[in-house]
Amino acid sequence: MIPEHTDIPYKISSEGSILAESYKPRQSRCSFSVCLKVGALILIAGIVLSLAFLPSLLSRMVTPARGKRPTAHPGNLPANHTTTVGLGPLDPRLVRSFWGVDYTPHGTQLQFGCGVTQEEVIQDLRLLYQITPRIRLYGMDCNQADYVLNGMRILNINMGVILTIWVDSNQTTYQRQYDTFWRVLETYGGDNIIGVSIGNEALFRKEVSVSTLVASIRDVKKKMIAMGYPKIPVYTSDIRELPKLMPEQDAVLDNVHPFFAGTLPQDAANWTWHYFYGVDQYPTIKLAEKLNQTQTKPAMISEIGWPTFPEDGSIQAAIPSVENQKILLDTFICQANRRGVPYFWFEFKDEPWKQDMFNETRESFWGIFDKDNNLKVSSLPNCTLPVWKKGDLFIPQPKPLDS
Ligand SMILES: *[C@@H]1O[C@H](CO)[C@@H](O)[C@H](O)[C@H]1NC(C)=O
Ligand SMILES: *[C@@H]1O[C@H](CO)[C@@H](O)[C@H](O)[C@H]1NC(C)=O
Ligand SMILES: *[C@@H]1O[C@H](CO)[C@@H](O)[C@H](O)[C@H]1NC(C)=O
Ligand SMILES: *[C@@H]1O[C@H](CO)[C@@H](O)[C@H](O)[C@H]1NC(C)=O
Ligand SMILES: *[C@@H]1O[C@H](CO)[C@@H](O)[C@H](O)[C@H]1NC(C)=O
Ligand SMILES: *[C@@H]1O[C@H](CO)[C@@H](O)[C@H](O)[C@H]1NC(C)=O
Repeated sequence: MIPEHTDIPYKISSEGSILAESYKPRQSRCSFSVCLKVGALILIAGIVLSLAFLPSLLSRMVTPARGKRPTAHPGNLPANHTTTVGLGPLDPRLVRSFWGVDYTPHGTQLQFGCGVTQEEVIQDLRLLYQITPRIRLYGMDCNQADYVLNGMRILNINMGVILTIWVDSNQTTYQRQYDTFWRVLETYGGDNIIGVSIGNEALFRKEVSVSTLVASIRDVKKKMIAMGYPKIPVYTSDIRELPKLMPEQDAVLDNVHPFFAGTLPQDAANWTWHYFYGVDQYPTIKLAEKLNQTQTKPAMISEIGWPTFPEDGSIQAAIPSVENQKILLDTFICQANRRGVPYFWFEFKDEPWKQDMFNETRESFWGIFDKDNNLKVSSLPNCTLPVWKKGDLFIPQPKPLDS
């Protein structure tokens, strides 16, 4: 799974129809998404062939807070909040420096049973609120969006949230998450929703055709407009098939991982500026010109991060470690804010379930916090961003690199 190195980090075609497939490290990396794909296969095989082991796996991996047993059903809804509690004491080490942060609450993998609790999500939100105005969720299962939006009401805070209707090759998965999405929108309204992502790298995993994905994006957008939310952007997180997807999306999202390109941590931020411009922003601009669109759609980094463990899980010069994660944090976060690069840091906290599910230790250790919400790095970047305000759907764009 070690990707081949290539000296050409990206290729810009004059058509602006650059294909990330031509970019070898991304193609051959064992990325989060590749691991997801491999992991999904392992999981399916594992579940089908060895159901017998599942109970012990479950009790080991999903230990929900407050002694509740994991449930096999789609999960309870959180109790409606009746009282509002304050944010509590602020952590002096934390600064709201991250433009956005990717977040998966524990206990939201339906196949393991839904162990998510409002209490744990509230503890997460207390930290998240202090480091970022925006979060991005990966799915609707186990009513995770309810816990997050209800949790914000309980804390009396506002953050912008990207909701994802997860897409895989199983139509049942999509329908389930789709139904939940509309229920959530009816329950909580659109006030805190800054985007709706139809899947994450589903094309990359080859779990959906571009025509199906386009149909889903159109369908959700149409319904959002009908329900009175025409301004909330709808998109997917995938750079493949840009010429077909861009006209249908309100923004172009890409998971950008210098780690999987095998860069030194010291080179990772610079690599990312060039990758984002060359693979995401510039092709989007050129395509808009070609299609005579009067306005170019914004491009956005939906994931950037660095794993902290294990050290032998390196890819060329990219070695997982807390020190290296800190180097990327220190060279990327405030610089990206200054440049106007919109990004979501991957990710808030470690996700222990991935280790077993994907037979890959590294996948579990991308958090800036560990699984118990301890900050891993000695300090975080310090460049305070304002608290998110309702209605702020703005996605900044950096100036072209060479200007
Ligand atoms: C929350 O309140 C709404 C009405 O405001 C009600 O329809 C819903 O059933 C309640 N949910 C729970 C879990 O109590
Ligand atoms: C961040 O910088 C501000 C302004 O310089 C300073 O007051 C604050 O103490 C710093 N916070 C941290 C956690 O370093
Ligand atoms: C799709 O998912 C549903 C519910 O999780 C499951 O019952 C069904 O067997 C799956 N179908 C396929 C083809 O995997
Ligand atoms: C930044 O990255 C680009 C493209 O990968 C490379 O050409 C350039 O030399 C790098 N600059 C520095 C200072 O490393
Ligand atoms: C864009 O405009 C040019 C010049 O007006 C025209 O030749 C071309 O067909 C247009 N392209 C599209 C996709 O509408
Ligand atoms: C898990 O990964 C290890 C090391 O890569 C490999 O030897 C082992 O066969 C894998 N196990 C499964 C169940 O795929």
